Amino acid sequence: MAPPLTQQPTTLSIRRPDDWHVHLRDGPMLAACAVHTARQFARGIIMPNLVPPVTKVAEAAAYRERIRRAVPAELEFEPLMTCYLTDGADPAELARGKEEGVWVASKLYPAHATTNSAHGVTSMDAIARGLEAMEKAGMPLLVHGEVTDPEVDIFDREAVFLDKVLAPLIKRHQGLKIVLEHITTREGVQFVEAHPGRLGGTITPHHLSYNRNALFKGGIRPHFYCLPIAKREEHRLALRKAATSGSPQFFLGTDTAPHTADTKECACGCAGVFNAPVAMQVYAQVFMEESALDKLEAFASLNGPRFYGLPANEARITLQARPLDAPERVEVPGGNKSIVVFRPDTPVGWSF
Ligand code: DOR
Ligand code: ZN
Repeated sequence: MAPPLTQQPTTLSIRRPDDWHVHLRDGPMLAACAVHTARQFARGIIMPNLVPPVTKVAEAAAYRERIRRAVPAELEFEPLMTCYLTDGADPAELARGKEEGVWVASKLYPAHATTNSAHGVTSMDAIARGLEAMEKAGMPLLVHGEVTDPEVDIFDREAVFLDKVLAPLIKRHQGLKIVLEHITTREGVQFVEAHPGRLGGTITPHHLSYNRNALFKGGIRPHFYCLPIAKREEHRLALRKAATSGSPQFFLGTDTAPHTADTKECACGCAGVFNAPVAMQVYAQVFMEESALDKLEAFASLNGPRFYGLPANEARITLQARPLDAPERVEVPGGNKSIVVFRPDTPVGWSF
């Protein structure tokens, strides 16, 4: 006799999730994007790579206000602000911002690793005093984990960073909690797993959805280009296993990174995938494919708050099992520009 067909649920209700890594930008881009993140998430760790970067407490407080104003009144969204670390980062400014409830964490961009990272850190020595202040204040360090040496192959930059930069850093700063952001490799997963209690890792919907072949399927596809770049299939599978494992060390961070279509569809296109309007739908699809829908709430709504020492959200969201219903583009106000919304190559069977 044939085994009974496994019934898929028709709805999925979980505590409201948070996005532990989001680029909301500023000005018209912020006006275009904020609603999409706030519709899905209760809180967001806001990336500070504006031009110029957010390095001062007063700048972060002002940016937080602009974000709050950009979110429609009927939605509740709390921006959690981060400090962009530069060489010589001021320990007093870090401690004061944490004390005043402005900074939640600091962001380490190795100089020139990615979009708007020109003011980033050139050596770990240059931020040692800042990191000591963060250890004392209990302020996590969020890491863009790629070396910037052009001699290192772009597909190896994460793994080399773990050995050359992160391993010595965690030894030197024993009290520092660290998030390895947007993990893209098996090595990244293993590194996080080797440091329970100290390290967390965020995983994006797009790195769970496609491997590096997708960037070149039928021609070059700029809307799949982001940094760290997607890796081989074996790495995508390691990410899916980690995300759906239920381990408290892995949590949701979309790395939604909007760029207008013209700046991606050109000779030297920007890195970044805009996934805010489809993030939870894509995560739900991945968890369903992995027969792990029962682990989605931990990944999306519980593990992150626990890592940051914050309460989980009380409100809930409900996803419906029906084909993805989301815009292909989002218009940017005040011009004729738009942002292309991420869509995986394989069907997504969840909607709000
Ligand atoms: O692809 C990316 N885009 N990676 C980053 O680290 C930065 C982001 C952006 O700000 O556009
Ligand atoms: Zn990012």
